[in-house]
Amino acid sequence: MLNAEFPPRPSWAEIDLAALEHNLRQAEQFCSPQQRVLAVVKADAYGHGAVPVTRCLVAAGVTDFAVATLEEALELRRAGIDQRLLVLGGCYPGQEGAFIDYSLTPVLLDADAALRLSAEAGRRQARLSVHLKVDSGMGRVGFLLEQLADFLPRLKTLPGLRIEGVMSHLACADEPESAVTAGQQERFRAVLQLLVAAGIAPREIHLSNSAGLVGWNFPEATLVRPGIMLYGGLPAAAFADRLELKPVLHLRSCISQLRALPQGSGVSYGHHFQTQRDSLVAVLPIGYADGYNRLFSNCGQAILRGRMVPVIGRVCMDWIMLDVTDLPGVAVGDCATLLGSADGLCISGDDWAEQLDTISYEIYCRIGQRVPRRYQQESR
Ligand SMILES: Cc1ncc(COP(=O)(O)O)c(C=O)c1O
Repeated sequence: MLNAEFPPRPSWAEIDLAALEHNLRQAEQFCSPQQRVLAVVKADAYGHGAVPVTRCLVAAGVTDFAVATLEEALELRRAGIDQRLLVLGGCYPGQEGAFIDYSLTPVLLDADAALRLSAEAGRRQARLSVHLKVDSGMGRVGFLLEQLADFLPRLKTLPGLRIEGVMSHLACADEPESAVTAGQQERFRAVLQLLVAAGIAPREIHLSNSAGLVGWNFPEATLVRPGIMLYGGLPAAAFADRLELKPVLHLRSCISQLRALPQGSGVSYGHHFQTQRDSLVAVLPIGYADGYNRLFSNCGQAILRGRMVPVIGRVCMDWIMLDVTDLPGVAVGDCATLLGSADGLCISGDDWAEQLDTISYEIYCRIGQRVPRRYQQESR
């Protein structure tokens, strides 16, 4: 949180809303005319800040959003966002009333939730729009085909529910040639036929995440559900030449101290770095509590004064150190970029993910809560 009374320590995440809109337009290029983007803004918009990100996307024309939890949906509603909000994680017992009161659209994951929601809607003389989730092969949540065939006649008679949408989720869409994805598309098509046979005609049909959107056309869909590509993360390395994404989040921190250390000095916990020469070391007020992973000890990099400079010593909870011995003119207050771009150089979320053996999703979600987000309307 930014505090109006005093300036924060000089570490922050800059969120480039122009880049977000650019990435949205990239996603839209893969949509056919009858398809629109349902933007995935769960997990605080992958760490970018759900309220400002959603507001920006609303201004850019997006009408549908997805979050994971009721709490995430309420944050958006309380910020005055009245667009359609799909809650991917479904409705837990006791939450039914809130879905109705706040006009939220639950994803139906099982029969029990359908019965509970319909009963609560009935008590309030309301009718709630829901999206039916089918497990077409993800192996996670939703109705299996066989369960659905049994349940559809019952679902149709539930008076409190309106089946507005039917959806599924792809397990292997990031593989350009995947028999799994082809099979999931087939099964999802079979579900669409089951619905027709049962006399249920959902207005919305959706299947594709970012990778599905870029790599796997599903013409029957009315919505697509990109998340990571909106934030500039590549949905799959194989799609790099089909996309021109821009990083949205730039993690920056300014030099707090410059320290001249003689040759043979140990730096940070455990002295895992020893200066090999008389060295100039810059200390930045950012650490693993801010999402700068401890695995970057002795191997991270920062962009500073148009150059890549190495992180030395262990990453601490609140500090990191850079070797700036070879950087002419370096001064206290200089701003370093740890993630994102500066001076024509870039350290992308995908670069971090490769180094840390994870995915860019996790990188962005783990930028610490105590790192203030600063929103910029125009790219630097
Ligand atoms: C159901 C569902 N749809 C869409 C998405 C967005 O996926 P991506 O960020 O890969 O575009 C997610 C993200 O995990 C999801 O769980």
